[in-house]
Amino acid sequence: MKRKILAPSLLAADFTRLGEEINAIKCGGAEYLHLDVMDGVFVPSYSFGTPVIASIRKCTDLFFDVHLMIEEPDRYLEDFAKAGADSITVHAEACKHLDRTLHHIRELGVRVGLALNPATPLTELDWVLDQVDMVLIMTVNPGFGGQKFIPQMKDKIAALKDMIRERGLDVDIQVDGGVSAKNAEEIMQAGANVLVAGSAVFGKETQKNAEAIVKLMK
Ligand code: DX5
Ligand code: ZN
Repeated sequence: MKRKILAPSLLAADFTRLGEEINAIKCGGAEYLHLDVMDGVFVPSYSFGTPVIASIRKCTDLFFDVHLMIEEPDRYLEDFAKAGADSITVHAEACKHLDRTLHHIRELGVRVGLALNPATPLTELDWVLDQVDMVLIMTVNPGFGGQKFIPQMKDKIAALKDMIRERGLDVDIQVDGGVSAKNAEEIMQAGANVLVAGSAVFGKETQKNAEAIVKLMK
């Protein structure tokens, strides 16, 4: 059985208290910090980039799980690795030469993640699945926090799990979008082992919220 990991998404944090928010999720048992980078082109919104990541790198040893929602991410991979990423996830839909991009991430010495939007079929993975450490199944259309989990995605997670098993690979399945304490168990049952949660974790009781989801993951 794969280790289960909570990856709170910083996008939902109170940015006036970033250090405290990060400390709260760590105390709540989260192991990853999910960092959503948006370029206003691949997705409608902008978020933050390398200066913020490099700055918070100084205040925590949490695993930095960087989710790049940007077009042609090759241009910036090195910058994100230098800023402190431990893992870099790119979108299949955003890369013209996906195989090259995945190799590029591997060469930077960080873990390799590949994300698929809800409408993107698993066949995108056919020729690259053996090159990645993690597949991110988007369970909302990327661009915003606080959206509703798309229920059909549970079948996609289960199909991915089968695909990984059939090929005898060791790949994490991450789920991102609309995850909360209410649906975490069914998502894990479908086959996911890394759960991203933004609005369900950050808020008035960040540490408690993280603890509640981590408890379900034991
Ligand atoms: C969506 C981002 C998500 C988002 C999750 O584009 O990739 O990581 O912040 O937020 P919630 O958990 O609120 O859906
Ligand atoms: Zn994300």
